[in-house]
Amino acid sequence: MSEKMQIKPMNGKLGILTPGMGAVSSTFVAGVVAIRKGLRLPIGSFTQMGHIRLGKRTDDRQPLVKNFLPLSDLNDIAFGGWDIFEDSVYDAAINAGVLEKELLDQLKPELEQIKPMKAVFDKYYVKKLDGKHVKTGTKMELAEQLMQDMENFKKENGCDRLVMVWCGSTEIYMENTPTHATLEAFEQGLRDDSVDIPPSMIYAYAAIKMGVPYANGAPNLSGDVPALEELAKENQAGVCGKDFKTGQTLMKTILAPGFKARQLGIAGWFSTNILGNRDGEVLDDPESFKTKEVSKLSVLDTILQPDLYPDLYGDLYHKVRINYYPPRGDNKEGWDNIDIFGWCGRPMQIKVDFLCRDSILAAPLVLDLALLLDLGKRAGMPGGIQEWLSFYFKSPVMPEGLTAEHDIFIQQTKLKNTLRTMMGEEVITHVGED
Ligand SMILES: NC(=O)c1ccc[n+]([C@@H]2O[C@H](COP(=O)([O-])OP(=O)(O)OC[C@H]3O[C@@H](n4cnc5c(N)ncnc54)[C@H](O)[C@@H]3O)[C@@H](O)[C@H]2O)c1
Repeated sequence: MSEKMQIKPMNGKLGILTPGMGAVSSTFVAGVVAIRKGLRLPIGSFTQMGHIRLGKRTDDRQPLVKNFLPLSDLNDIAFGGWDIFEDSVYDAAINAGVLEKELLDQLKPELEQIKPMKAVFDKYYVKKLDGKHVKTGTKMELAEQLMQDMENFKKENGCDRLVMVWCGSTEIYMENTPTHATLEAFEQGLRDDSVDIPPSMIYAYAAIKMGVPYANGAPNLSGDVPALEELAKENQAGVCGKDFKTGQTLMKTILAPGFKARQLGIAGWFSTNILGNRDGEVLDDPESFKTKEVSKLSVLDTILQPDLYPDLYGDLYHKVRINYYPPRGDNKEGWDNIDIFGWCGRPMQIKVDFLCRDSILAAPLVLDLALLLDLGKRAGMPGGIQEWLSFYFKSPVMPEGLTAEHDIFIQQTKLKNTLRTMMGEEVITHVGED
């Protein structure tokens, strides 16, 4: 058996802070409050509903993950965040229209109390949005204001630990620049109001600077730059991202590993979506869509390894489209047409029509990520990129020199084995009786 890590006990609440309190964030908060009251089950959450096998198959030890790990109890969570609109979580959830009004009305007293703090926002980075509930100052001053918000939140809510999960809108496409290369250059960039530093990076900096773990649910660069990785290592803050793995990409990472396992070829994969929520409206801007497109496209290449399998995947044509269509609200429809081929090259087709509720799939990921990042921090996991949490992301951030693993089943094995190791249990290799 490996040695169990020393896991610091919890001496207060865990504060989960979300920059962006729209559909995903409000569905997450409302869901946890409903679960606390016994009104709903935490469906979709690995930490709350999942079991983990320990030891040999013959041992018959399969505890619930939440009984195996010393995770924060759902009753010991405080919720907070920032948004450019002043809506309470109740109003945001009603606007989002994801959960039923009858349920939200039962949670109204709790949800109305949770109001966003003033955001760090700049329309340059999200062209389709504008709001008045925003802070002012240089980028460095804005980061300092966010850190002050976090300190205040901690005191006011009796928290001893915080985690931050970006649930804000997708920003325009950006690439690494010299401003992001070192912490020194980055901090100078904050002082100089560098255009290379969008709001999501200012939130990430503020969190990491305070040693607060940071997960990025959107495809923006955000915490994924060398300067912030350097800071995260120094401050033992776990970082992970990017872009919650939900909807169509979740289906892709479930199906594609299956085709590859059976050596079935793929000639083309055409994916199109209609969605009508605010996220859809933001993604209607080509610059925000580009960020999303890059994140969605990378998945198949890494799962299918066309270099290794040129006959099966060398000519794959992969296309992704997102269309803003207001009548659908958050109820996205994602179509996939997959042209596959089998024995002797004979073609076949698969059509997937996923009538998906995006935020219903994303909300449990926010919960799991917050609980697991907090656990990792208390267990003394080194700061920086938390590859074991790739399971939750469309475009997992990797340490330099490693390619991302997109296959959801490999990601799940990695997650479970990391947790086993953390708790001093043997990893499971599936060899022999194992
Ligand atoms: N719903 C999903 O399944 C899913 C999956 C993967 C990724 N995402 C990403 O998660 C994010 C949230 O999605 P959503 O459906 O909740 O969108 P949403 O538009 O309902 O909510 C986003 C919120 O962020 C706020 N915001 C924007 N910039 C901000 C800033 N700088 N500071 C504070 N608040 C800011 C907006 O005002 C809005 O209320 C998006 O980037 C989306 O692409 C969502």
